[in-house]
Amino acid sequence: MKRWFTVAIFSLVLAASTGALLRFGMVLGMPAWANNFGAIRHAHSHLMYFGWATLGFMALIWYYLPELTSRSLPKGVGAQMAASALLALLSFPAFWSNGYGLTQIGMAELPLGAMVAGLNGILWLIFAFLYFRATWALSQRPLPIQIWDWAIFLLLISFGGALGLVGFVVMDGESVALQQIFLHLFLDIFAVGWFNLALLGVLWAWLGKYAQLPRWLPSQSLALCITPTFLLGVSPILLADALFWVAATANLGAAALLAWHLGALWRQRVHLPPPVQFGLIIFAVHIISAIFIMWPGFWRWSASTQLRIFFLHNFLLGWISSALLGIVAALCIGWTHRMQSIVSVIWSSSVSVMLLALLWVGFIQLIPMNAVTLFWIAAWSSVTLALVSLWVGSNLLIRAGSVYHVEKDGSQPGSLL
Ligand code: HEM
Repeated sequence: MKRWFTVAIFSLVLAASTGALLRFGMVLGMPAWANNFGAIRHAHSHLMYFGWATLGFMALIWYYLPELTSRSLPKGVGAQMAASALLALLSFPAFWSNGYGLTQIGMAELPLGAMVAGLNGILWLIFAFLYFRATWALSQRPLPIQIWDWAIFLLLISFGGALGLVGFVVMDGESVALQQIFLHLFLDIFAVGWFNLALLGVLWAWLGKYAQLPRWLPSQSLALCITPTFLLGVSPILLADALFWVAATANLGAAALLAWHLGALWRQRVHLPPPVQFGLIIFAVHIISAIFIMWPGFWRWSASTQLRIFFLHNFLLGWISSALLGIVAALCIGWTHRMQSIVSVIWSSSVSVMLLALLWVGFIQLIPMNAVTLFWIAAWSSVTLALVSLWVGSNLLIRAGSVYHVEKDGSQPGSLL
């Protein structure tokens, strides 16, 4: 699995550097060799989604499954991971020049981004099929598997959105509402559904090495509450009030169930790597934001601000990426506790600075401040994040060949793979 963690971290480094380029581009203007801001933003977000988080979670699920099921992995996992890694990396050049638009290749005009996104989606189906085979008819489904079952259910729902989006581009669709519905069904359920549940399953699998796991925590109810929340991504002009309230109420229900997980994880935090502990604090901020959405008029007002970018990065960078990076680094690099803490402090403070700058940009109408200063702060903090990712990635390469885990009795890390 080590090589897939390496590809995932490489994707993080490349996508974080692209994020830094975009951030500097917002204050200085984009350079001539990267002048399509919208397309490069798609290259950044899709590499983060497919290459960093999805590949990282798939590798972690395959890593933990044999232990949880007492079965070996089904044939085909290696090929699926190789194809997933290749197509995830290809999404970067495919989106770079025209995003979801058409690109001239010889005589033909091809929607390269949409095509590669569709192909990535087909591999999620293969992943889901292999997972289904690996966990079929288990006499007992341990907690991480119960949670991953529903993570994969949400991955499949979001695939429906990706399929719709590809169909929309290919058929030259014109309905903005339909385009928005497909886009958010894909991107939002993918993130708040698949990533969230995949990560919770991974954290419980990690904790299973140290302590007795709770026998039950919400998974099915959580997935069902998360499903309608993609509507909150759709523009308020296109969404009927009744649908907004359905989505906002489901969102509040999901937040309550996530808070249940958060409370249980927080009680076990001493066993979690430092970046995961930081991620839990940001996760609390994410949960609390569900209450703000219920505030009459807040959601409609926020759509006219930059708060969406804060909300996205609070969740994807502050929670999902901090925790994922913490687990991958702890598993693959035999760092001392001191080293882990140093990396964690630099990462956590850079993420916090960036998130505070983005939050302020979001509330700039209410708390006036020179926006350019805030954009500079966000830009410089993004450089630190790209460098920390590079540091973790190079350590991962140097310590090739081992996956570490401290045993329940606290004994020295030993090589597991
Ligand atoms: C490492 C630090 C990161 C930096 C510097 C960064 C930077 C950026 C920038 C500048 C934008 C465009 C904002 C705008 O248009 O106002 C953006 C958008 C976005 N980023 Fe990031 N980002 C980072 C991490 C992440 C991570 C970890 C993920 C996902 C796992 C992610 C996913 C997204 C998404 C989904 C969008 C919106 C794309 C769209 O609307 O088309 N970013 N990011």
